[in-house]
Amino acid sequence: MRFSSFAAESGGQGPEVRVWGASDVLVVTAPLPGALRVRLLPEARANTLGFPRVGPKRSFALRPDLPAGAPLQVTEAGAELWVSAGGLSLHLNRVTGAWRVVTGHGPADDGAEGRELVSALDWSGEAPTQRPALDAERFNLRRTRLHLDAPDGAMYLGFGERVGPLDKRGMHLTFWNTDCFPHHTETDPLYVSVPFTTVLQGGRAHGVFVDEPWRMEVDVARAHPTELRWASAGPELDVYVLAGPRPADVLRRYADLTGYAPMPPLWALGAAQSRWGYRTADDLRAVIQGYRDRNLPLDSVYVDIDYMDAYKVWTVSRANFPDLRAFVKEAGEQGVKLVPIVDPGVKLEAGYDVYEEAAKGDHLVRTARGDVLVGEVWPDPAVFPDFTRPEVVAWWAGRHKFFADAGIQGQWNDMNEPACFSLRQPRETEGKTLPYDARHGTRTHLEVHNAYANGMSEASRLGYAKFSPNVRPWVLTRAGYAGIQRHATVWTGDNTATWSHLALSLPMIQGLGLSGIPFAAADVGGFAGDTTGELLARWYQAAVGYAFVRNHAALGTADQEPWRFGEAVTDVIRSALELRYRLLPHLYTLAHAATRTALPVLRPLALHWPADEDAAREDTQYLLGEGLLVAPVLRAGH
Ligand code: GLC
Repeated sequence: MRFSSFAAESGGQGPEVRVWGASDVLVVTAPLPGALRVRLLPEARANTLGFPRVGPKRSFALRPDLPAGAPLQVTEAGAELWVSAGGLSLHLNRVTGAWRVVTGHGPADDGAEGRELVSALDWSGEAPTQRPALDAERFNLRRTRLHLDAPDGAMYLGFGERVGPLDKRGMHLTFWNTDCFPHHTETDPLYVSVPFTTVLQGGRAHGVFVDEPWRMEVDVARAHPTELRWASAGPELDVYVLAGPRPADVLRRYADLTGYAPMPPLWALGAAQSRWGYRTADDLRAVIQGYRDRNLPLDSVYVDIDYMDAYKVWTVSRANFPDLRAFVKEAGEQGVKLVPIVDPGVKLEAGYDVYEEAAKGDHLVRTARGDVLVGEVWPDPAVFPDFTRPEVVAWWAGRHKFFADAGIQGQWNDMNEPACFSLRQPRETEGKTLPYDARHGTRTHLEVHNAYANGMSEASRLGYAKFSPNVRPWVLTRAGYAGIQRHATVWTGDNTATWSHLALSLPMIQGLGLSGIPFAAADVGGFAGDTTGELLARWYQAAVGYAFVRNHAALGTADQEPWRFGEAVTDVIRSALELRYRLLPHLYTLAHAATRTALPVLRPLALHWPADEDAAREDTQYLLGEGLLVAPVLRAGH
């Protein structure tokens, strides 16, 4: 018998049922009605000192004010065990370890068994190796595995920021936030990892969320045509099964667990102009003037890394911005907010106060050997604040006083996968980031890499709440893990000025929306490469219902402000922006709805028409609310 013993008792996070055998542990709790949590700890005897007890686990995803779970009902019948609460039941076969979650109250439900949501065919793990951590190869990236039944015809939506169609069935996906430049229509992984999927079958939905920031993979019925196979580099799998029956119910339950996005300021929904290459206050003045001269609406300008002094975060180049506060005021008088970029990499430079504070406060990521890890980003050499530790988040939050005092109300957190171009002590890494064995306090980078950006943007929220308590801040992030929506909105990173990327923006944004991130958008016009007038105009039209509309381009690419391609194009863009502004009352209402329901601003048809398979697969069109369909032109010459 794989599970000889069980106990129902009060655990660290409320009532729990713990089941164990010679080496494995499974813990069931009911955090919310319609949500069962199943913590799977194979090889817990080797991995967990307190076996068969299991300590509470820190989650980077869950909202901090989650109430303690509900009581559970346990029914034992020979080798069968039923654990029920809040309208869901887990049924475990104690001999084989197979389990499933069904709706209803299990056997007590007058024998009428509910609908099966999830069926775990197999789960297993490996004990950690005894050898000291030195080589990246030594890490077992598929240490813990869970195979769920993936019935024919079931669609798998979400999984965070992904390319490809809305239904991820047939794809193998990796959860490892990656600064990927350029990305293509086939690239995986990208910047944001959300191990949450809405499963849609026959018009009914349920959710599966695996709350592990560890590097993970999910094979969506690719290696095996009827199995959803999760694999984690960590010692356990923390699985939440969320009831439907509608996709909107799944999304709401997911947000009940991981939090709702805060209300954005209205100005952030207006037109925004950005470019890597605006260097000075005069550059931005010219942009604002360019909009005003042509009667184009504009609510914000973004400023990229060149406003800093030698890429030193929390500094401003005196030459480029002689008086930041005066400029913010001046732009504000014209109705334009300034949104500066902030990167996590801190220049290692003696006497630079941010570095000195970080070093003195022991706020930095370290190597496996214990030295401060030194790499190269825009600043070189650079060190990395460890945003996975609350004291570091608090320290970084304090740094926002600098911007708040200058009157800044919006911020763009970039490179927070974290991106690192090279390391001083060369070491193999997966993507341009830190090595698996880098140290975050007592944790390895392999464990917390995906959660790095959450702490950085949480610090921004805390900072503005403290220093500008009466403003509603706008925080934009490139990377994130589940729960990032509580702290920041997301843009889809370094896209390309091509028609394929215009089309790709819609399933990407829709997929983010289905992953609990209601405020997401792509760079309008495309970041890399030179855009064309036709593409730019079509992009503005398609973006009429993006959660925000930011034109952004890379250094060295052709200018792409709305007026750069002649009057005919400018007129088309003006019309698109005017439509956007006419829709603002509706968009603002949708934004507010998102903060209460988790329904995204730009909605996939699947959310409101789950029983219509064609609608559910549709990713070239989207809904703004329930009644407005947007079907933009996504091809040249049409
Ligand atoms: C990254 C960002 C991009 C930014 C650039 C320079 O590539 O994704 O938006 O312009 O860095 O800061």
